[in-house]
Amino acid sequence: MLRRILLSVADHKRVENALRTPAAARAVVQRFVAGETAAQAVAMGSALATGGLGVTYNFLGEYQSDPERIERSCDAFVGFARLLEDRGLGGPQSELSLKLSALGQLHGPDGPARALDRARRICTAALAAGVLVTLDMEDHTTTDSTLEIARELRRDFPLTGVAVQAALRRSPADCADLRAAGARVRLVKGAYREPDSVALRSRADVDRAYVRCLRTLFEGDARPLVATHDPRLIEIGSELARRHGRSPQGFEYQMLFGVRSAEQRRLAAAGHSVRVYLPFGPDWYGYFARRLAERPANTLFFLRALARP
Ligand code: FDA
Repeated sequence: MLRRILLSVADHKRVENALRTPAAARAVVQRFVAGETAAQAVAMGSALATGGLGVTYNFLGEYQSDPERIERSCDAFVGFARLLEDRGLGGPQSELSLKLSALGQLHGPDGPARALDRARRICTAALAAGVLVTLDMEDHTTTDSTLEIARELRRDFPLTGVAVQAALRRSPADCADLRAAGARVRLVKGAYREPDSVALRSRADVDRAYVRCLRTLFEGDARPLVATHDPRLIEIGSELARRHGRSPQGFEYQMLFGVRSAEQRRLAAAGHSVRVYLPFGPDWYGYFARRLAERPANTLFFLRALARP
């Protein structure tokens, strides 16, 4: 119930403005978001890299329709790839994660084609810096278009990854296609409120689907990016990696900044490849609301911080 309410206010401007002001609220936001500027993201990314962790940088923003802001978002990613190289953070330990809706994917009939052009510009800058690129997966209305854009990008940038949401009924088939293409696939449970017609509802069903998708990805040439904090699924990932003789370079664990940080360090110390998803930028609200929705305890912690004098 709480999850539904939080997801329904995820795009609510007035709630966002109310949260921007109190210092206590900002402090809680900082648990999940590196900061509003590129400099803050680089400083945090550098600290994570020093601790032996890979980093996925996400310049926050989604569902953009203002042409100027769409261009600004694209330029920000291009500039950020160059900044990473300048600061000695180039190479595959760094990755950029793109939300295509921030690049104009949903803006008019030629939105997907224009978003592809912009993603190409970002991939070109990322490649020059040796940095990887992965496409986030947004709500189910964007899935076909995002998978198609990922397919196009892989022609020129074969290491381009894409996220797949286990909660969607279509995902086992998508994983089979991506396995055949040998793609980098970030498998997640799914963070969006979706209709029953396209998505599984119960946690148990989603977890079962996650395992099924994971098996498919480990069986072939895909590079599975096991993006979950769920201890059981992490253990199953390790077991599948052992069974299929994957080296630590053959798959990786991915977790969100601010969630199970000790587990991130433990896995890295045990020799696994671990990457932390590090969001930054002024448009943090939608991302933050989804993190609260995932865990009631976060919301209570947040409400307590708001109530503090
Ligand atoms: P689950 O929600 O069952 O959590 C397992 C345990 O992890 C919890 O019991 C708790 O201990 C801890 N935990 C999980 N979330 C927490 C939180 N917010 N705060 C504190 N503790 C928490 N989704 C999507 O739709 N598209 C995408 O592109 C991505 N990209 C992405 C990248 C990466 C690297 C990750 C890790 C996740 C995503 N997601 C995503 C989000 C994903 O769909 C999902 O909503 C969250 O990862 C939570 O699901 P878990 O698999 O962690 O399991």
